[in-house]
Amino acid sequence: MTPADLNEVYILEQAAYPHPWTLGIFSDCLKMAYLARVLENENKGIDAYGIMSSGGGEAHILNLCVKAELRSQGLGRYLLLSLLADAKKLDVDTVLLEVRQSNHVAISLYESIGFNELGTRYGYYPAKKGREDAIIFARHLKY
Ligand SMILES: CC(C)(COP(=O)(O)OP(=O)(O)OC[C@H]1O[C@@H](n2cnc3c(N)ncnc32)[C@H](O)[C@@H]1OP(=O)(O)O)[C@@H](O)C(=O)NCCC(=O)NCCS
Repeated sequence: MTPADLNEVYILEQAAYPHPWTLGIFSDCLKMAYLARVLENENKGIDAYGIMSSGGGEAHILNLCVKAELRSQGLGRYLLLSLLADAKKLDVDTVLLEVRQSNHVAISLYESIGFNELGTRYGYYPAKKGREDAIIFARHLKY
């Protein structure tokens, strides 16, 4: 992901989430040199993106998103596996992420890739009414 991708990424983000990240958050991720990947199609359009921070033996998947009309075709799994491969190269022990407890599709993807539930962050996400809990998932890469 480069600064030139941000407007298109932001459009996908707004379509994907009820409480999307701002353009500024994406821009900050690039400034922080987080690992930020896009999947481009043959017309150079962006089909999916993922962002991961890392440090001290841990990586954190901060965002993973596939364009709405291209879901359930394997792109999310492909992108997540490529982030895990990147994490291995960075000598990461554990990859962490949070997911809304209502996001059954994402939870099913994470569990199928060997992520285990680590705990709950109560009221972590804004929701239509009040707040929603996040489930924390972890995937160990070295044992
Ligand atoms: C979560 C997301 C990234 C998954 O990407 P995707 O490309 O649709 O997923 P894939 O096609 O790679 O499927 C991977 C797994 O997800 C689950 N899954 C995918 N589509 C599903 C559906 N319609 N119903 C139930 N489970 C589904 C299945 O476990 C699937 O594995 P399988 O194909 O072996 O059954 C995508 O749905 C998305 O962008 N959602 C909106 C943003 C979001 O919620 N991101 C996660 C934030 S934590």
